[in-house]
Amino acid sequence: MTETITLRGKKRTHTCGELRAKNINKVVTLNGWVDGRRDLGGVIFIDLRDRYGKTQVVFAPQHHEGVYQTAKQLRSEAVIAVSGKVEHRPAGTENKALPTGEVEVLADDLLILNESETPPFPIEDEIDTSEDLRLKYRYLDLRRRQMQENLTVRHKMAQLVRRYLDSLGFLEIETPFLMKSTPEGARDYLVPSRIHHGKFYALPQSPQTYKQILMVSGYDKYFQIVKCFRDEDLRADRQPEFTQIDIEMSFITEEDVYQMAEGLVKTMFREVKGIDLETPLHRMNYDEAMTKYGSDKPDLRFGLEIHNATDFVRGSQFKVFETGIQSGNVVCGFNLKKHADVSRKQIDELTELAKVSGASGLVYFKCNGHSLDSPVSKHFSQEQLENLRKEFEGRDGDLILLITQQRKQIFQTLGQFRLEVARKFELIDQNKNSLLWVTDFPLVEWSEEERRFVAMHHPFTSPRDQDVPILDEALHQSKTKKRWSSDNPLAGARARAYDLVWNGNEIAGGSIRIFHPDLQQKMFNCLGIHEDEAKKKFGFLLEAFKYGAPPHGGIAFGFDRLVMLFTGSRSIRDVIAFPKTASAVSLMDDAPGEVSREQLMELHLKVI
Ligand code: AMO
Repeated sequence: MTETITLRGKKRTHTCGELRAKNINKVVTLNGWVDGRRDLGGVIFIDLRDRYGKTQVVFAPQHHEGVYQTAKQLRSEAVIAVSGKVEHRPAGTENKALPTGEVEVLADDLLILNESETPPFPIEDEIDTSEDLRLKYRYLDLRRRQMQENLTVRHKMAQLVRRYLDSLGFLEIETPFLMKSTPEGARDYLVPSRIHHGKFYALPQSPQTYKQILMVSGYDKYFQIVKCFRDEDLRADRQPEFTQIDIEMSFITEEDVYQMAEGLVKTMFREVKGIDLETPLHRMNYDEAMTKYGSDKPDLRFGLEIHNATDFVRGSQFKVFETGIQSGNVVCGFNLKKHADVSRKQIDELTELAKVSGASGLVYFKCNGHSLDSPVSKHFSQEQLENLRKEFEGRDGDLILLITQQRKQIFQTLGQFRLEVARKFELIDQNKNSLLWVTDFPLVEWSEEERRFVAMHHPFTSPRDQDVPILDEALHQSKTKKRWSSDNPLAGARARAYDLVWNGNEIAGGSIRIFHPDLQQKMFNCLGIHEDEAKKKFGFLLEAFKYGAPPHGGIAFGFDRLVMLFTGSRSIRDVIAFPKTASAVSLMDDAPGEVSREQLMELHLKVI
């Protein structure tokens, strides 16, 4: 009944991507959007579009004058129902680029189901439009083929995840969105309670505590494709609400997590990209990642490995290095192979890149045969230059780049500089896929601002067995010194934590968890979260751990990031139907918005 009113009997028999030569002479009905209209010598052509493709429809006055007259009114993006016979396109006018390009529909009936205003940008693959405009008119942007392909891949990947994990016996279990605020890491999004004056729920930053409690309850293999909410500074690969493939397992070690996760990634590579990913994946510990690549998510698609040159240049006449070294600096850099022929201008640009990355300057040596040429060469002995060349494996035509900085900053600086240089000199092979595990993260990091240690991953991450005594020693020292400081032995403790990195992007992170209430309490103490505070924030978890918590661990994949990388998109916004801008605004529906005085009153809130 409804169908007769809305479609007046013109319900589609085929989609706009379906018709082929085998359908010739068939009478069909298509529903879709007018992609464009061309009037050619008294005949009107339109491309009719839906998410399956495009089909050419022809309106000819000699075939049907009335229908032809109606077609004259058609504007782009009108929604129509059209019926007619499928015909072979005249010889020479076939469109090989289009799957339906061999045929066209000669219209003998046309129903305009809805008109459209002129869209603010064309619905085309390549558009020269600001992202803000695309986000404001997201419903139009989502009509574009690229976006439809991205969301289709996203859908397929979600199905793959479910099939894969189901086949391994995992259960998909939902956890609450309204939870208790337990900020440790990013800021929470808060939701005021109407019923409980002055109380707030928080939106989960991840289902971390719930999934651990599910382990206590015996659901030894859990997963969920779930929204997470974090009020943090945004970048191209971050959103305030994003999706995780969240996984937790009991009675396992790191190896089980690696195997399960590698199987999942392998399946995705095979099904989405048709690539047979070689596993097991490469592993690298955190210290090596930092000192060789200056990053805990190293991109291994290109070289530019960092070397420490401090010992080779110590005692030179070069004041910049020597005074630096004496005040505790180190000298590090990398070999930009086969680039000794850079121009003066390029050296200036490299120096600028080094400065943008955080260095105060850049020193370079051009490898000329076995000698190193540089404006500063004369300040070094022959032996120093030779040792330097050997350390960097400098061959004729190479360019060695060095900077000097404090040890705790230099790797980060070089990590960024390394990436900038790789981009500038196009050293990154876009067809390569470099996946690796980064392991043995520090358990904690010092927060200068809070004057305490904060968990590097989260406070539920287990220290390595051999590092558990460090926690006792750390607590002892903090008591005798009566304060915490960055040189406390805790800084050296390592966690049973791991990240999965793909081409320099962190695509997943997880850990083996603490499962004893005593050790968990000790960890909280080390983080300056005292007993009553821990009880208030995480009492339920500590309590649950008293009732037979199994050893457990898990991982969470950033689903949006995975889809971004699998679709080759530049930003995660391109794989999310309704994303927020970098300033956490939804331009389409204008969220966040103001609320009425009544709404605030009801919640016992006042905006100050
Ligand atoms: P973590 O905080 O490392 O771990 O998050 C897991 C993965 O989620 C992705 N991710 C994000 N993606 C988009 N926007 C964001 N703002 C954002 N933040 C994180 C990253 C990251 O690797 N509960 C733990 C997991 C665990 O220990 O099992 C967790 O949330 O790809």
